[in-house]
Amino acid sequence: MTKIIDGTEVAAAIREDLSAGIDTLAEAGEHPTLATVLMSDDPASETYVSMKQDDCEEVGIEAIDIEIDPEASASELYGTIDELNADESVDGVLVQMPVPDHVDKRAVLRRIDPAKDVDGFHPENVGRLVAGDARFKPCTPHGIQKLLAHVGVETAGAEAVIVGRSEIVGKPMANLLIQRSPDGNATTTVCHSQTADLAAKTRRADILIAAAGVPELIDGSMLRSGAVVIDVGINRVDANNEKGYELVGDVEFETATEKASAITPVPGGVGPMTRAMLLYNTVKATSQERGVAVELP
Ligand code: GUN
Repeated sequence: MTKIIDGTEVAAAIREDLSAGIDTLAEAGEHPTLATVLMSDDPASETYVSMKQDDCEEVGIEAIDIEIDPEASASELYGTIDELNADESVDGVLVQMPVPDHVDKRAVLRRIDPAKDVDGFHPENVGRLVAGDARFKPCTPHGIQKLLAHVGVETAGAEAVIVGRSEIVGKPMANLLIQRSPDGNATTTVCHSQTADLAAKTRRADILIAAAGVPELIDGSMLRSGAVVIDVGINRVDANNEKGYELVGDVEFETATEKASAITPVPGGVGPMTRAMLLYNTVKATSQERGVAVELP
C-alpha cells in the first residue's frame, strides 16, 4: 500500500504547536507581524498571498497586506521595503515572487532586512544556510524536511534526487539534505533541464523531490520501487470544468503510486507545509528580534 502523505494534517499540527510560541510572545507583550507585498496581478500569486494572510490571522500573527500596481516603478517597491525594514512593529517581510520583468528580483531580495527575511532568500541568509548556520530555512524545503520526518524517512545515507534547481526549492533543498544534521546526511543529486537521461538519475532515488514546474514530468517508470516521492509542482492545466483549469503536480500521480512507498498529493501535500513554515519563520523572526525565547516545533 502506498502511503499518501497528508500535508494538510502535518501543517495543522505545526500551526497548533506554533500557537504555543505565539502565546509565549504575547505574554511578553510581543505580537508577531508579517507584511506581504504583492506587485502582480497574476491570479495564482494573488491566491497564494491571500492564503498566507488568512493563515496568519488564524494563528494570531498580524498580517499587513500591501499591494503595488504591477506597472509602478521599481523604486516604489524599494521604498515600500525600506519603510517595512524601518518599521519596528514589523517582524517579517515577504515580497511575493515573481515580480514584474522591469523590477530586478535580486535587488529586491537584497533590499529586505535579512533579520526580517522570512523567505530566507536574502544572499546573507542563503550564505548562512550553505554554511550550515541557517537563520531562516526557506519555507518549501523546510516543510519537505518536516514531511519526511513525519513519515519516518531516514535521510542519512539515502539517495536523494531533486529535479529542479530553483532558488526557492531545488538549491536550498539540496543544501539542507547534504548538511551534517539529523534531517540531512543524504547523498544528493540535483537534476535540471540539461540533465542527460533524467530517468536513469531519478530511478536511483530513495527520495525523489520533483520541483521542475513541468506538469507530470515524472511518471512511475522513472521511479525505483519503494521510493518516497515529494511533488512540489503546482501546475495549472486546462480542464473541462467550471474553473477551466485543474492543478497537477510534476509527478504523474496514478503511475507513481504504483511504485512509490509514499507520495504527496497535489494539492494537499507540500503546499500547506510551505505556508505553515512561513508562520514558523515569522514566529522565529519575532523571537530573535525581541529576545524572547520560544520553543519551535
Ligand atoms: N513565489 C512562489 N513561491 C514563493 C515563496 O515561497 N515566497 C515568495 N516570496 N514568493 C514565492
